[in-house]
Amino acid sequence: MLAGVSWTTSPQQAARTALQSVISARALTKAYGAFRAVDGISFDVAPGESFGLLGPNGAGKSTTMKMIGGVSQRTSGELSIMGLDPNEYGPEVRAHLGVVPQQDNLDEELRVRENLLAYGRYFGLPKTYLQPKADELLEFAQLTDKAGARVDALSGGMKRRLTIARSLINDPKILLLDEPTTGLDPQARHILWDRLFRLKEAGVTLILTTHYMDEAEQLCDRLIVVDKGTIMAEGSPAALIREHSTREVVEMRFGSERNTTVAAELDGIGERLETLPDRVLIYADDGEAALEAVTSRGLRPITSLVRRSSLEDVFLRLTGRSLVD
Ligand SMILES: Nc1ncnc2c1ncn2[C@@H]1O[C@H](COP(=O)(O)OP(=O)(O)OP(=O)(O)O)[C@@H](O)[C@H]1O
Ligand SMILES: [Mg+2]
Repeated sequence: MLAGVSWTTSPQQAARTALQSVISARALTKAYGAFRAVDGISFDVAPGESFGLLGPNGAGKSTTMKMIGGVSQRTSGELSIMGLDPNEYGPEVRAHLGVVPQQDNLDEELRVRENLLAYGRYFGLPKTYLQPKADELLEFAQLTDKAGARVDALSGGMKRRLTIARSLINDPKILLLDEPTTGLDPQARHILWDRLFRLKEAGVTLILTTHYMDEAEQLCDRLIVVDKGTIMAEGSPAALIREHSTREVVEMRFGSERNTTVAAELDGIGERLETLPDRVLIYADDGEAALEAVTSRGLRPITSLVRRSSLEDVFLRLTGRSLVD
């Protein structure tokens, strides 16, 4: 190579790369004093992709979302949203984003429909646009018959749907959803998942955080597993499971006192063994065969279950801990 000639990316190439990802983070860090809530994470999100941050409490998910949303300044690293740095172009970046924070922050003083209109006015959107848009979003959120209701009279699932409707008032290209279904019952979660699928089908890029593995498996094309501010793994749910776990898992309960002692007698069955306080897990591609091997040693679990590996198993493998404490 000639001295003085550097083979780095040309500005044109850099611009093209930036456009291929709607969000790009490099060594993104947020420190509170000496504590790093987000500790140098790097990832890219493609247009129309549904991208997840999966991790336990305190992993740094909300902190990352707040930096993307431009409400929290990063300590170091690089961040670009639609090619713009949120530190320099806050309002421009926010115009592209819809934000659903972890805690609903609806205006309880206002009625349901009025919440949408007030939020739209805050964006400076004209009444002629807002009136039909509010009705369309109420329909989308299945809240048309609640248009005139008080916010504090809504169920948790309805409030969440209203917060999502509100986040869509400016037709965002990117939707940030921080724990969209935490605290909701299964039915309410399924209604929300259905709405999020529709947005995905409409081409909206979804960035969502969750500590539910089923939610991540259902909604995310690709995800990062985060723990203590760092990325433990990245990939599609299926690829992560393939890479870090076996096809199946046998879950056995031998009684609280016996799980640890029995585990010592399971040596050699399956590929890997995990002993948790309440159960023993055997990782094996053929779960039924592994369970037969257990019983043929004269060991009788009180309950046993053979299931497919999930992201929970990936997390356990990577961190030695369970996702939901
Ligand atoms: N303003 C703050 N000052 C100091 N520490 C903070 C602040 N905000 C967050 N933290 C700490 O940063 C870490 C990451 O917090 P964050 O809210 O991002 O986690 P999370 O992954 O969203 O967790 P959860 O699943 O509970 O919502 C936690 O240890 C938290 O206590
Ligand atoms: Mg959070």
